Amino acid sequence: MRQSSAFFFILNCCVLITLIDGFSLSNCTIYFPFEYTGHLKVLCNRMSYWKIPSPLPHNTVNLDISNNAIHQIDETDFIGLSNLIILNISHNRISEIHSNALSDLTNLEELNLSNNKIKSVTTNLFKGLANLSHLRLDSNYLETIENQSFATLSNLRFVNLTNNKLKHLSELHSVLQVPHLQELYLGKNGFSVFNSSDIPSAFFGLKKLDLSRNPLTVFKMMENIFPDLEYLDLSSCFQTKTSDWLILDKAFLNTVKTVNLSRNQIEVNQLDYIMQSFPSVTWMALDGLKGFKAEIFLHKACSPSLRGLHLEDNKLSVLNDHMFRPCALLNELHLRNNGVLRMYKSSFNHLVNLIELRIQKNSLKQLNNTLQVLPNLRILDLHLNSIQNLDCSDFTNLTQLRHLYLHRNRIVTIKACVFKDLGNLEELILSSNRVLTVSGTFTHGPQNLQCLDLNNNKLGAIQNYNFKALNSLETLRLADNQILNIYPYAFAGLINLTDLHLASNKITETSLRNRDVFAGTPNIKSLDVSCNYISYESQEELQSPPFIHLSELRVLKINSQRQNLNHIPSNFLKGLTNLKDFYAGNLNIESLHVDTFSYTPKLTYLDLSSNNLVNRDALTPKLFQPITGLNKITLGKTHLKSLDFLVDANLSNLTILRASMNELQLINQKIIQSLPKLKVLDLQNNSFTCDCSNAWFIDWAFKKNKTQVLYLNRYECRYPLSLSGKSLAAFNAESCNVNYDFICFIYSSSIVFLTLVISFIYHFLKWQLVYAYYLFLAFLNDKKRKQISNHLDFQYDAFISYNAQEEPWVLEELVPKLEDQHGLRLCLHHRDFQPGKAIIDNIVDAIYNSRKTVCLITHNYLKSVWCSQEIQVASFRLFDEQEDVLVLVFLEDIPMHQLSPYYQMRKLVKKQTYLQRPKPGEDTQAFWQKLKIALETKENMEDTQILSGKDV
Ligand SMILES: *[C@@H]1O[C@H](CO)[C@@H](O)[C@H](O)[C@H]1NC(C)=O
Ligand SMILES: *[C@@H]1O[C@H](CO)[C@@H](O)[C@H](O)[C@H]1NC(C)=O
Ligand SMILES: *[C@@H]1O[C@H](CO)[C@@H](O)[C@H](O)[C@H]1NC(C)=O
Ligand SMILES: *[C@@H]1O[C@H](CO)[C@@H](O)[C@H](O)[C@H]1NC(C)=O
Ligand SMILES: *[C@@H]1O[C@H](CO)[C@@H](O)[C@H](O)[C@H]1NC(C)=O
Repeated sequence: MRQSSAFFFILNCCVLITLIDGFSLSNCTIYFPFEYTGHLKVLCNRMSYWKIPSPLPHNTVNLDISNNAIHQIDETDFIGLSNLIILNISHNRISEIHSNALSDLTNLEELNLSNNKIKSVTTNLFKGLANLSHLRLDSNYLETIENQSFATLSNLRFVNLTNNKLKHLSELHSVLQVPHLQELYLGKNGFSVFNSSDIPSAFFGLKKLDLSRNPLTVFKMMENIFPDLEYLDLSSCFQTKTSDWLILDKAFLNTVKTVNLSRNQIEVNQLDYIMQSFPSVTWMALDGLKGFKAEIFLHKACSPSLRGLHLEDNKLSVLNDHMFRPCALLNELHLRNNGVLRMYKSSFNHLVNLIELRIQKNSLKQLNNTLQVLPNLRILDLHLNSIQNLDCSDFTNLTQLRHLYLHRNRIVTIKACVFKDLGNLEELILSSNRVLTVSGTFTHGPQNLQCLDLNNNKLGAIQNYNFKALNSLETLRLADNQILNIYPYAFAGLINLTDLHLASNKITETSLRNRDVFAGTPNIKSLDVSCNYISYESQEELQSPPFIHLSELRVLKINSQRQNLNHIPSNFLKGLTNLKDFYAGNLNIESLHVDTFSYTPKLTYLDLSSNNLVNRDALTPKLFQPITGLNKITLGKTHLKSLDFLVDANLSNLTILRASMNELQLINQKIIQSLPKLKVLDLQNNSFTCDCSNAWFIDWAFKKNKTQVLYLNRYECRYPLSLSGKSLAAFNAESCNVNYDFICFIYSSSIVFLTLVISFIYHFLKWQLVYAYYLFLAFLNDKKRKQISNHLDFQYDAFISYNAQEEPWVLEELVPKLEDQHGLRLCLHHRDFQPGKAIIDNIVDAIYNSRKTVCLITHNYLKSVWCSQEIQVASFRLFDEQEDVLVLVFLEDIPMHQLSPYYQMRKLVKKQTYLQRPKPGEDTQAFWQKLKIALETKENMEDTQILSGKDV
């Protein structure tokens, strides 16, 4: 029983050891976005890897190894990764891929090999990738694609071969035979001839074809090879006037909806011909055409089906009166970067259907009421012009406008009347202008505005009710202005405002002193007042805490005040009962008042990075007690010396702890154990002590089966000096550990061994053991005795040791013969033992007080415990005093083997120095005579002939 449980105990120890299954990918970040399946997302990008990291966890579904320095992919690199779905190895230096390297990736759907140095696609490279749907091989050195190399890719939908060194369509046979290909990108290669006869058969299903940036001289379609094509990019292809353009049947490309013919050299008559080839085109780009003549070209280009037209970079500095007359059906017109200086109402007169007009990056100074004629406009992009003033009538009639982009102009003031017709405007971007004030601008609308961006202007103050009419506004951006004064009720009326950006202004604690600064905007969820000039002298309670009205606020950013906040008043956060994220980094805070977070019970994220928490009491457990829901805390760069405050802070919900760039030396077990939900720990750049005091942490960090210790391989020891600068891994934490596994092994094996030995002894050496025990007892008694007395005068001549059954013979024959006839003094236990004394002591006394001990041996005598003890004690005395005190009288016949445990008795019997009681009828006279002599003699029995058994 005991043996088997010990055995299982050992077994358990061994199983525990082998179960530890950490990630040894020290340079990679591992995410668990798929909680239920245990699948992993592994990011190893930008880590200077020379080869594919390994071992990669087998349950990785998304692996990013882009932007490293990998040269080749070996046969075993991706072995066993059959769960992988997305693999990104782009931006490396791969020139060689072993032909079986990808064969295990049976579930792979997306493979990105772009920006490498691959020269050819070999026949077996993609073998086994039956589920691949997305393949990027763009920006490589591809010259050849071997036949059959795409044969097994039956699910491929998307191939990007842009920017390679392919020259002939015939090299693409393998790609062009993929049955369900939908998108094929062949831009920026060396194709000079596109001839349908080079393509094996009709290519059903292909929807997008990009042939841009190839030096095409011939484009010939003699057969309908792309019956389903919708998108064709032929930009930057035809650079000579004589390029050969032949499409046998106008119906061949009648499915094409989107055509890009930008940056080509196209003659007018060619354009005519081309346009006839695309009878259903709805969107066309004619950017940067050489020798573009708007009147003639637009006449050809604006076919009845066309709805969107790109005319960027065409130097159309003046938009003439009737330029767009042929384009009456357009919904979308892009005129970016044309140097437009002048335009007329009549320019757009005919474009009544226009929904999107983009005239960004031009030279417009005024709008001159030119846009009033576009009542259906929804998107108007005028950014990057030189507009200074907006007239009240500039946007008249634009009732449908949703998005108005006016950023990067020179606008100083805007009158309210500008927006009078923009009742549907949702987004107004006015950033990077020179707006000085918004007083009076938004007093009437636009009522439906949801996002107003006034970042990077020259606003100095926000007056009360400045945004009064914007009751749909959700986002208000006022960052990068010079706002110093915010008047009470400045934002009142913004009942739907959720995001308010006030970063990088000149706001001070005085600007926030009035408790009604944020009054009237009850729904703000996120407030950013970072990078201002807010500063407090002490932690003393404020008379009116600034955020008292913002009970719905979730996110507050006060980080990076330019005057160093230094102190956060104890009731600074009062009113923020729903605050979740608090950014208070980079403020030079030295400590936090224990009440700071007592107003924000729902806090989950706290950023205190880049402060000056050098003092050991800067953060106390009590500070964290009101915020037990804290999930993530950032304490990087705060001069922190210890994380001990966490032990009693009760942060049982913390999952992410960042405390890099501090002066932490020791992380003890209690700290980690107080954070049961910790998933990510970042302690880079601390002053770790690499000795046994830190052994537990070092050992835990490297095993980290539940917690990811970010970039652990970069952690360095600071102390002791002998290890300074060495990696934490260089310290062998194992050497500090009492090895419990080994101890448990030794302990249990000893138990097993002992049990075996004891059982063995018990079974085979029982008597020897009993004998040894008695011998030992006798030895003890002899010692004692010798100390007490040394006399040679004996109280008795003989101690008679016998079994109770022999009592009649003793009393009736032995005692009368020896005591009465021969005058010997005998010691008998029933008569002479002192009552109340321990039996063993009585025995010992009797033996030592008698000259001889007479043992009357019978079978029963040998069985009796006490009698055998008497023999033992006597034996010992004999042994010790070199005097044979033992006289054996056999009353019965006893075979030799029964004497075996009684070593001394056996020895005597062997020497035949014993007496045998005469059998009935034999002469008793001689027996008594011999016994008397034996008791009186002092010599060794060995020498006395009388006692020799032979004489009996
Ligand atoms: C980890 O990244 C560092 C550079 O950030 C690099 O020097 C080191 O070789 C990488 N480790 C491995 C195992 O690739
Ligand atoms: C195709 O590759 C080119 C060149 O690397 C890249 O610029 C382009 O975005 C890619 N196209 C798609 C759709 O991935
Ligand atoms: C607006 O009208 C003025 C005066 O007629 C002219 O100088 C200016 O170029 C016009 N602006 C535009 C953008 O057409
Ligand atoms: C406003 O648009 C209507 C058509 O919706 C048009 O009749 C009217 O003339 C336009 N107003 C101006 C000032 O152009
Ligand atoms: C404010 O937002 C709510 C919810 O998004 C919406 O139902 C309501 O119409 C908005 N109020 C205004 C005045 O736009």
